[in-house]
Amino acid sequence: MKEIKADNYSIWVGDESLSKLDVSCYSKVAILVDKNTKRDCLSLLPKINNSIVIEVPSGEQKKNISSCNIIWEELSLNNFDRDSVLINLGGGVIGDIGGFCATSYKRGIDFIQIPTTLLGMVDASIGGKLGFNFNDLKNQIGLFSNPKSVIINPIFLKTLSQNQLHSGFAEVIKHALIKNKKHWELLSNSSFKNLDWKHIIEISIQIKNTIVKSDPLEKNNRKKLNFGHTYGHAIESYYLEKKTPILHGEAVLMGIILECELSLLSQNEKNDIKNYILSNFQLPDMPSKNKLMKFLLNDKKNKEAKINFTLLNGIGNCTIDNLFTKDEL
Ligand SMILES: NC(=O)c1ccc[n+]([C@@H]2O[C@H](COP(=O)([O-])OP(=O)(O)OC[C@H]3O[C@@H](n4cnc5c(N)ncnc54)[C@H](O)[C@@H]3O)[C@@H](O)[C@H]2O)c1
Repeated sequence: MKEIKADNYSIWVGDESLSKLDVSCYSKVAILVDKNTKRDCLSLLPKINNSIVIEVPSGEQKKNISSCNIIWEELSLNNFDRDSVLINLGGGVIGDIGGFCATSYKRGIDFIQIPTTLLGMVDASIGGKLGFNFNDLKNQIGLFSNPKSVIINPIFLKTLSQNQLHSGFAEVIKHALIKNKKHWELLSNSSFKNLDWKHIIEISIQIKNTIVKSDPLEKNNRKKLNFGHTYGHAIESYYLEKKTPILHGEAVLMGIILECELSLLSQNEKNDIKNYILSNFQLPDMPSKNKLMKFLLNDKKNKEAKINFTLLNGIGNCTIDNLFTKDEL
């Protein structure tokens, strides 16, 4: 088992990591799940006497204030006091809303993240961003707050669908491309089916954690994590508007291909990245740049009416705040 030190908490990674789930100091314990993690993941947790289970509906559509109400209501009805703790057992949705509800309940109780999706393990559970969607706007209400600990165990991936695994893998690829050339070489020379998940997850978390620690509130360096996401978000919004939503990771993989085109890479490097992605993952059709323009022009990262990209300047290196006009794209 590996301990990765974050700001003021530890991230435990490995087959034995659940042994680090120590809740003996708390007055009460609640475990937050959705339908799928209740079915597939709850029984893998060590038994916690007198804990309660709170279930909210699964999926991005339910990452809203109604799910928060369910959580606050259950905590209140069960007389949870400020010495209690909430364990978030699920993907990024459960982690984001569970963390938000814990931080705001009675001005803050502790929470522990136990991510059960690849995306949750390598991305959502690290870095303290919490929140929920409001009026169809993603993560419109939210805050920064760190968990007491994060416990990562690849065993949960066994029941995760292939689609969800691919979706989380987009962030693994992104982390390698922006910060660790050796890791990219390892990924691109391995077959997806034979990956050593424990190792892959550990390296990916280390990359995200190092970047977040250098800039927790996303004033500069943390923007590096936006690589692939300017085009990625535009593609995600395009499909959402067409009422045929695609997974976030699928959009990010397509965004990585498009943003590599804008990056300072050799033609060979661009081709290698594109071929690796297209040969390992089946992706939706790539919309034309024209169709994406209205979404790009609305991106909240834009500056001086220009579209803002994080771009590679070599594999394993990137620069932030690269501004392009509509005509330059
Ligand atoms: N806080 C952050 O920094 C951050 C970063 C990236 C993404 N996010 C957020 O994460 C969310 C996406 O997270 P996600 O992709 O994990 O989606 P998700 O939480 O909706 O999980 C995807 C699906 O997998 C199911 N599931 C989860 N674990 C399972 C398991 N082990 N076995 C079987 N089924 C399982 C869930 O019930 C759900 O249906 C988005 O809301 C996004 O905004 C947050």
